[in-house]
Amino acid sequence: MFYRGRRLRKNAVIRSMTRETFLHKEDLIYPIFVVEGNNICEEISSLPDNYHYSVDRLDDVVKKMQSCGVRACILFGIPDHKDCVASEAYREDGVVQRAIQKIKAIDPEMYVIGDVCMCEYTDHGHCGILDEDGYVNNDKTLTYLSKIAVSYAKAGIDMVAPSDMMDGHIQALRQALDEAGYPTLPIMGYSAKFASAYYGPFREAAHSAPSFGDRKAYQMDVANGKEALREIEADIEEGVDIIMVKPAMAYLDVIKEASLNYNMPLCAYQVSGEYAMLKMAVSQGLMNESVIEESLLAIKRAGADMIITYFALEIAGKLGG
Ligand code: PBG
Ligand code: ZN
Repeated sequence: MFYRGRRLRKNAVIRSMTRETFLHKEDLIYPIFVVEGNNICEEISSLPDNYHYSVDRLDDVVKKMQSCGVRACILFGIPDHKDCVASEAYREDGVVQRAIQKIKAIDPEMYVIGDVCMCEYTDHGHCGILDEDGYVNNDKTLTYLSKIAVSYAKAGIDMVAPSDMMDGHIQALRQALDEAGYPTLPIMGYSAKFASAYYGPFREAAHSAPSFGDRKAYQMDVANGKEALREIEADIEEGVDIIMVKPAMAYLDVIKEASLNYNMPLCAYQVSGEYAMLKMAVSQGLMNESVIEESLLAIKRAGADMIITYFALEIAGKLGG
């Protein structure tokens, strides 16, 4: 009578038959940082085992993805030149535009997503166009985000992912893409993106820390779960194709709510700080490396269909087909 769980758990065959959640390589999206220059493949100090690649060295990472079976990536560009309108972000031969063409030339089947934002490209490091008062001007920013998305589309991107958190961004991008002749190019919205300290290692990797202030005027208060649902609803109304919650592990409640409330494909972003935390603990022997799969399974159990993670290559190599 007391042994309800144990009767099944003690046998590996039935344990796997009663397993509820699975992690597949097909669920994983790998973030790639592309830099200017030649012959660069340099480990990112804040994200051990992840690298800065110049466009000519992207073969290295595409090969790694192919050999472990990861089929999708998301690109972040790090330009040499930054200015107040992020002009490198929408240049026809910008670093991301060239990276898209390069990856598609190496492997046309590789699914390439482009992160659409301005913070890596602005001299002040904020995610949009600033007004004189130092705040981001929402509507002016939408015009620029649209230019970036269309330029990625022209370079052959498979999907765009705006991470700016401007109001009306999905509608603006949808309209711009439709008008430019890309009505079937999907948009993944960073719908519920929190103003999180977990982005620290990314900002070092992408040289995108704001030079003054913070992002709390446009990213969400970490205390707000209901607001997250309102943000997601707004993106859905504007025609988003995939919704996202970011970060993941500290926001499993939001992932769960989103998966229960909306019949939409749901992505979770296990961000740089979540990666760094686990990576350090494992490398110092404080936790067994199985904590990595455990963290990703938990994100799926909460309801995510797909996960952007810096562990993608490492974990996919260990997963079956
Ligand atoms: C750009 C962007 C950020 C991340 C993804 N896109 C940084 C930020 O908003 O400061 C963070 C990803 C990570 O920490 O891994 N807006
Ligand atoms: Zn940004």
